[in-house]
Amino acid sequence: MKLSKNALQLLNARYLLKNSEDEVIETPEQLFSRVAKYVASAENEDKEKWEDRFNDLLTHLYFLPNSPTLMNAGLPNGQLSACFVLPVEDSLSSIFTTLKNTAMIHQSGGGTGYNFSQLRPKGDMVSSSGGVSSGPMAFIKIYDTATEHIRQGGKRRGANMGILNVDHPDIEEFILAKTAGDTLHNFNLSVGITDDFMETVQHERDWKLMNPRTKKIAKTIKAKKLWDQIVSQAWATGDPGLIFLDTLNKHNTVAEIGKIQSTNPCGEVPLFEYESCNLGSINLSKMVTLKEPEGTAVDWNKLERAIASAIRFLDNIVSINHYLLPQIAAITKNNRKVGLGVMGWAEMLALLNIPYASEKAILLGERIMQFVQSKSYMASAELAKERGDFPNWKKSTFHPNKHMRNATCNSIAPTGSISVIADTSYSIEPLYALAYKRVGILDNQTQMEVNPIFVGKMQALGLWTDQVKNEVLNTGSIQQLEHIPKKVKKVFETSLEIPWEYHLKHQQAFQKYTDNAVSKTINLIKSTPKETVSDIYMTAWKYGLKGITIYRDGSKADQVLQACHLN
Ligand code: CDP
Repeated sequence: MKLSKNALQLLNARYLLKNSEDEVIETPEQLFSRVAKYVASAENEDKEKWEDRFNDLLTHLYFLPNSPTLMNAGLPNGQLSACFVLPVEDSLSSIFTTLKNTAMIHQSGGGTGYNFSQLRPKGDMVSSSGGVSSGPMAFIKIYDTATEHIRQGGKRRGANMGILNVDHPDIEEFILAKTAGDTLHNFNLSVGITDDFMETVQHERDWKLMNPRTKKIAKTIKAKKLWDQIVSQAWATGDPGLIFLDTLNKHNTVAEIGKIQSTNPCGEVPLFEYESCNLGSINLSKMVTLKEPEGTAVDWNKLERAIASAIRFLDNIVSINHYLLPQIAAITKNNRKVGLGVMGWAEMLALLNIPYASEKAILLGERIMQFVQSKSYMASAELAKERGDFPNWKKSTFHPNKHMRNATCNSIAPTGSISVIADTSYSIEPLYALAYKRVGILDNQTQMEVNPIFVGKMQALGLWTDQVKNEVLNTGSIQQLEHIPKKVKKVFETSLEIPWEYHLKHQQAFQKYTDNAVSKTINLIKSTPKETVSDIYMTAWKYGLKGITIYRDGSKADQVLQACHLN
């Protein structure tokens, strides 16, 4: 197997099995065969054939499942899912039961999302104690502190999504929560937005905040004022993002069993309370082929084969996963949601000489994701024939005409760790830089690396000189080099050089064909004005996106792309 130095370091630090002396006791090849063997154990027939096929998929780095599967498959009580949503009801008992369950989920490698809107506001009456309530923010802080002290599988910190709906009386405090410096590092915060609110903002009307306990109006404020607070705060700190609740529920395939109120930590999977989901991503940088006369092209056949095996792989996990709670087992097995997505999109585009900021890229993005979705649905329908529909199928939008094994098939995850293992670009993000410093997880040594696809292209063009090398090592970019042809520069524009409009168009292109959601960060240069953030958030809603997150360069003390991957 060919793995990059970073991949090896990461695997050594967090994925390969260790003995009680903390010594690594498996090789990466053994890790992949452990995972393939365990996932194939769900098969009734031809276990070996499937084990080989899954092993092939993993060792070629064509597809990788989410981290908990790589870490825990085949271990006793191995918990394999990355994504959970838990309920938070308006009682101390519910709040602390969910906190306990959170601790167990984080310890097993999963991340958790919650909507705190059922909690009565700060200062509201508590009849049992005769006192007043602390409000959602106080409990979010407790969850954050607990998260800080529980390492996922002893390896990384857990991640949380905290949602508060835009009509909750404590919404202003929630919006401002990350101003106070050193707080809530382990939470992504998103305001739960309704279409009604967006229209009220557009018409600059009054907006009512409702006490969820009494169902009475607690306060009336200008919708535009609340909007401006959200925008200013996101501009200053990156939080809060938005979650478009009506859009989530418009696409809820099992609406008959209830409304969806929350997503997992990075936003790519809307889930019911207690529901979990397994993710996996296809490595698009490996799905290109050399073809005459057009040169490099998408290898659709290879992609199709990878999708079919990947859906089967993820469906198997639903069957053989170890569930931490009976409630999680019940709803997860009844819906059998999986989330197959992609990584390495920017590298695929670079291999095809297509600039990220171009209509050609948007069209190809749509084509790719439409293909991933339609082949995923075909694979799920095939599995339904073989194994039966998902148990809630009769309550789903697929009934009665379309047989399905899974209530959802696709999600675009951030792939913060698995794209390092696969040595490709994150998710559907553009390259952040052409060269960057990496601090080794194990040795803490800093090393500079130049993107190998960029180097290859420059060599092929006879442009790989010391001058170019020095420039990218110093700046991460080639945009200031006068002698480089415009066309080449365009293909290698990096995240902050790409206008926000194109970031958003890529998110829209992939969301169009993703039944769950797309996790994406709209990266902005430092000088971006607040009005632009307002435009982005408004456009995201108009595009029918399920959520939106921005990050303005330099706006947080500890700058990170995906905050939850820091640890
Ligand atoms: O690359 P990897 O499979 O580790 O994860 P990802 O695609 O970056 O994130 C997928 C999901 O894993 C997130 O949305 C979270 O639900 C979960 N996650 C977590 O619980 N803790 C982290 N530190 C990172 C991700």
